[in-house]
Amino acid sequence: MQPDLSLLIRQAQILHPDGQLRVGDVLIRGGTIEQVATEIPLEADETVREIDAQGLTLLPGVIDPQVHFREPGLEHKEDLFTASCACAKGGVTSFLEMPNTRPLTTTQAALDDKLQRAAQKCVVNYGFFIGATAELLPDILEAKPACGIKIFMGSMHGPLLMSEEEVLDKIFSQGSRLIAVHAENQARIQERRQQFAGITDPAIHSQIQDNQAALEATELALKLSKKYQRRLHILHLSTAEEAELLRQDKPAWVTAEVTPQHLLLNTSAYETIGTLAQMNPPLRSPHDNEVLWQALKDGVLDFIATDHAPHTLEEKAQTYPNTPSGMPGVETSLPLMLTQAMQGRCTVAQVANWMSTAVAKAYRIPNKGAIAPGYDADLVLVDLHTYHPVRREDLLTKCGWSPFEGWNLTGWPVVTIVGGQVVYEHGKVNTEVRGKALTFDA
Ligand code: DOR
Repeated sequence: MQPDLSLLIRQAQILHPDGQLRVGDVLIRGGTIEQVATEIPLEADETVREIDAQGLTLLPGVIDPQVHFREPGLEHKEDLFTASCACAKGGVTSFLEMPNTRPLTTTQAALDDKLQRAAQKCVVNYGFFIGATAELLPDILEAKPACGIKIFMGSMHGPLLMSEEEVLDKIFSQGSRLIAVHAENQARIQERRQQFAGITDPAIHSQIQDNQAALEATELALKLSKKYQRRLHILHLSTAEEAELLRQDKPAWVTAEVTPQHLLLNTSAYETIGTLAQMNPPLRSPHDNEVLWQALKDGVLDFIATDHAPHTLEEKAQTYPNTPSGMPGVETSLPLMLTQAMQGRCTVAQVANWMSTAVAKAYRIPNKGAIAPGYDADLVLVDLHTYHPVRREDLLTKCGWSPFEGWNLTGWPVVTIVGGQVVYEHGKVNTEVRGKALTFDA
């Protein structure tokens, strides 16, 4: 297939930057949105490919700001090609990937290697975090392009674990780039692991890494961020207590995200899907689900990330606590959230804001997150009328399973466009398309 550099999307229900849905046409040239028209149809010569989008809704492509795509080093779980194909199918046109690969992404050289690999095989746009280690390598402040510094305050082993306040303080005091934290208190987790040792029911995971462990780490990160007025992003915030903390006290330079699974699944999932429900931070209670939803709608939480963290079914079939934590998400996040919108829990405009516009703003990614002239043509056309279940056999992620199998969802992508090129259409990925490296305005 040839790349479609000029495209005319006809008669889509377009989500405009004012949050309104209005039917119209969008003209794309050279990877950029050139015109958006709702009054009169747009004209184009025969060299422009037309897409009939009647009955479909056009949204800015999803930017997933927290994924683990496993390359290099852990390609038996996933790789940048398979993961990016799953992204295209899920309407995710850009992703920000985490540093816990092998080798760890803690140096400019490791970052360059990932960028090179992505340039060769990613069908969507890509950006990478640089990981902090206690050695405080100078590259964490300078490596480019990086969307931020990732700190694992807990639930990690090896050099990426940084739980000591003294060391954390040093990182917060240096430089100005965004710091993104996995906030769980490692000391508390270790203590509780011993307390509950010998229990093999995976439901214990949510008690070992409990709400208090998350709250304590978030409190510490917030304290350090305030001390230095340092840009802080709280990854996959999972508890009612943390949401209430931020509701009381959230400086303008702090952002927070929530995952679809922390909104839509809770500890009852261990009964149905066992260790497939195991992730860090763990699933919480229905009460936490409710408080997180409210916090998201009130703007206490800023956006949504999947924390796509694939592990093989063989790995997940071991006995807890030998099972790895994490679940895939890029293929299902948009339909999950749009289904919530169609069922009245939120609006389509809110979903697009949480999954694209607000992410571009927080990470200062230029020209993304809106359907307007001059913006990059990263777009997704979704069908908000038809329902399909999540089925294992349809998934493109290499791990081959989803915690949402059997869920009947609407809002599935019909066409996904990356930089003006059709990367996914009617169930097929165009594997010739290549995404670009994202840039992050300092
Ligand atoms: O459940 C998780 N799995 N949470 C993380 O933060 C890491 C991830 C992984 O890499 O498997």
